[in-house]
Amino acid sequence: MATDVPRHVAIIMDGNGRWAARRHLPRQQGHRAGAERLRDIVRACPKLGIKFLTVFAFSTENWRRRPEEIDGLMALMRLYPHSLADELKRNGVRVQFIGELQRLDRSVTNRLDELAALTASCDQLCLTVAVNYGGRAEMAAAARQVAERVASGELLARDITEDTLSAHLLTKDLPDPDLVIRTSGEFRLSNFLLWQAAYAEFEFVDTLWPDFTPGDLASIVRRYPGRIRRFGAAAG
Ligand code: IPE
Ligand code: IPE
Ligand code: MG
Repeated sequence: MATDVPRHVAIIMDGNGRWAARRHLPRQQGHRAGAERLRDIVRACPKLGIKFLTVFAFSTENWRRRPEEIDGLMALMRLYPHSLADELKRNGVRVQFIGELQRLDRSVTNRLDELAALTASCDQLCLTVAVNYGGRAEMAAAARQVAERVASGELLARDITEDTLSAHLLTKDLPDPDLVIRTSGEFRLSNFLLWQAAYAEFEFVDTLWPDFTPGDLASIVRRYPGRIRRFGAAAG
């Protein structure tokens, strides 16, 4: 079945460090430029007919980076929600955060919670930001919750279906992504939406995230109707 607009677009925003290195700038400048870019992309989504945008901002594996870089990323997460709040609300963007947020500093989670609460009633675009998110950690947490329900007698093991698992994922309120975009020329998922992307279409672009424009997104979205999604059915 051919589809016109991807309702849910997920983006692995990669390439900030290389963007900065090419300009002989500190990596933090790349992350800052990347955050600015996200603002532009969020603005563009409603005009393109996208209803759900999910972006990968920090992975469970990104703790392996140098403390200075992690501190810099956390500082941006403290700063940006506040500076974007008015515009997001005006444009009807509901923001939510997924990931193991309890591992983050309170000074960060407070800002994220405030933004989520402030935009909770918005309905033009649902922006989900994955912070300290890992697909495997998410599935392990879902398995633990399901196991607890079985142990308490609330659920029978033989009644566990794909829908049961889906309902315990952090994305339980979101449709599966139709399209996953990764910037910076890497061809991998890096633990992003492993379960949810089972039937997603993929676009890998060489552009580094801070250079990825709304025009780039628009041309990917324009190409999308050409894709035939069969979901396992025979062609034709
Ligand atoms: C993506 O850019 C942002 C995060 C992973 C936090 P990178 O920082 O991974 O940039 P490269 O891949 O080193 O260029
Ligand atoms: C994936 O990018 C995570 C984010 C974009 C937040 P990475 O740069 O961490 O991925 P790898 O290490 O190249 O796979
Ligand atoms: Mg990277």
